[in-house]
Amino acid sequence: MGTHSRLIAVLFVSLFATFANAATAKKPVERGNADAGRNLALEACTGCHVVSDNQPFPPLLKGAPDFREIANRPNVTAASLRRTIAALPQVPRKGQMANPLLTDAELADVTAYIMTLREHRGKAP
Ligand code: HEC
Repeated sequence: MGTHSRLIAVLFVSLFATFANAATAKKPVERGNADAGRNLALEACTGCHVVSDNQPFPPLLKGAPDFREIANRPNVTAASLRRTIAALPQVPRKGQMANPLLTDAELADVTAYIMTLREHRGKAP
C-alpha cells in the first residue's frame, strides 16, 4: 500500500510537470511577428538582399537572392528557413553569407516575414 501511494504521487507530480511544461513552452516566439521581421530585415539584411519591393535603398553587394525568390523556392517553410539560417557558419565560404547570429525570436520574426512573400502555388502557369 505504501509503495502504491508513493507511485501514484510520483505519477501525479510528473503529470503536473508535463502540463506545466506544455503551458509555458508554447510562446509566441514559435510563430514570429512578420512586421517586426520586416523591420529587422530592413536593418540587417538589405545590405545584400532585396528584402522588399519598396526598400529605401538597393543592396550594396550583388549576388544574394531576393527574399521573394527565397520564399518561393519549392518546399520552403518558416521552419526550414530558420534551420538554414541558424546553421550558417560564422566564417562563411566565398559567396556564402555569414551566420547573422539572430536570437530565436528574431529568427522567428524574420522567417515569418520572408514567408509573407511566398506566392500561392498551384495556380495554372
Ligand atoms: C553580407 C551580405 C549578406 C547579408 C547582410 C545577409 N545575407 Fe543572406 N545571403 C547572402 C548571400 C550571398 C546568400 C547566397 C549564398 C548563401 O546561401 O549563403 C544569402 C542567402 C540567404 C538565404 C538562403 C540560404 C539558403 O542556403 O537557402 C537566406 C534565407 C538569407 N540569406 C537570409 C538572410 C537574412 C534573414 C539576413 C538578415 C538577418 C541576411 N540574409 C543577411 C548574403 C547576405
